[in-house]
Amino acid sequence: MSALFTPFTLKDITLKNRIVVPPMCQYTATDGVPNAWHLVHYPSLARGGAGLVIVEATAVSSEGRITPACLGIWNDEQAQVHSQIAAFIQAAGAVPGLQIGHAGRKASANLPWEGDNHLAADDPRSWDTFSPSALPFGANLPKVPQEMSLEDIKRVKADFVAAAKRALQAGYKWLELHFAHGYLGQSFFSVHANKRDDLYGGDAEGRGRFLLETLAAVREVWPENFPLAARFGVIEFDGRDEETLAEAIALSKQFREDGLDFLSVSLGFSTPAANIPWGPGFMGPIAGRVRQETGLPVASAWGFGRPDLAENAVKNNQLDLVMVGRSHLENPHWPYLAARKLGVEKPSWVLPPSYAHWLERYEM
Ligand SMILES: Cc1cc2nc3c(=O)[nH]c(=O)nc-3n(C[C@H](O)[C@H](O)[C@H](O)COP(=O)(O)O)c2cc1C
Repeated sequence: MSALFTPFTLKDITLKNRIVVPPMCQYTATDGVPNAWHLVHYPSLARGGAGLVIVEATAVSSEGRITPACLGIWNDEQAQVHSQIAAFIQAAGAVPGLQIGHAGRKASANLPWEGDNHLAADDPRSWDTFSPSALPFGANLPKVPQEMSLEDIKRVKADFVAAAKRALQAGYKWLELHFAHGYLGQSFFSVHANKRDDLYGGDAEGRGRFLLETLAAVREVWPENFPLAARFGVIEFDGRDEETLAEAIALSKQFREDGLDFLSVSLGFSTPAANIPWGPGFMGPIAGRVRQETGLPVASAWGFGRPDLAENAVKNNQLDLVMVGRSHLENPHWPYLAARKLGVEKPSWVLPPSYAHWLERYEM
């Protein structure tokens, strides 16, 4: 019996298995509006058998995009196409999820395949960036952000709330707040990005305040019966790891008390000076610890593309859900192949019935 292919229920939502397509930016939008590419890409991933497909980091405002080609959900035109994406993912057999975020000091960047650096100041496509402190990320992202005023903080929280409302109207059933990867939420939490001496900085409580307030505000508009998740960078691999992890776990417990249902455990990416021990499934033990100490159900990603690794992460109680990213880009039918590899009885039933029936009947 495979652990990876058992259903998972959270609130009113049941995933048919533990496999998640994590958010992966496609950098193909214009003015934040999804297009034909997104309508092809997301349903085809859903068709492959994953229980949950989370649509890429979608900006809560124009300034919150990572690149000029990132998706947005700050207006009705964008939300209208999102509603098609959500419906198509569902029709293809998966639960539709959306990650909403603000890129903070990493915004106004080039496409990854055009340099992955900040757009030049005189590039007409560039824009002003915002962060808790006027500190650049460094390395390929040298642009100095504006230190956010209390008014800015209020505005961005309101943008998250408006985005959550639109996500709900569009038909998404799982919402993930992007508090990871060196973007705005993570920057408030990070000692590398947040040097404020007001309520939103200083000790871990101050650095967690923006995240908690954003969560609480979104929870008010996101229905109780649908999962509200956050992707959170709990470790930087910068030599301060035990301290960061302890602070992240304490904050995650508070998230849980304030209505968070699920945590996607990830990395901080707040400093270019990190020394990350990349390796297959290397975040598994860290996520397992967060799961145990917070009591929250968790997912993680990073190198779980080998079916046995994904299976064991669930079986050994490290992860409730396994995020499989690049392996899905390689092969959208990854879940079906994983089911075959793991010896699941009738693996074709991972696929929609209109495929499964024929594959099962004429096993090749
Ligand atoms: C093309 C691409 C785009 C990504 N975009 C996002 C994103 O929008 N939001 C996010 O939280 N992570 C993003 N990530 C990270 C993935 O969600 C995932 O954590 C990462 O690919 C590691 O998992 P894997 O080893 O299974 O690929 C992206 C990764 C890739 C490859």
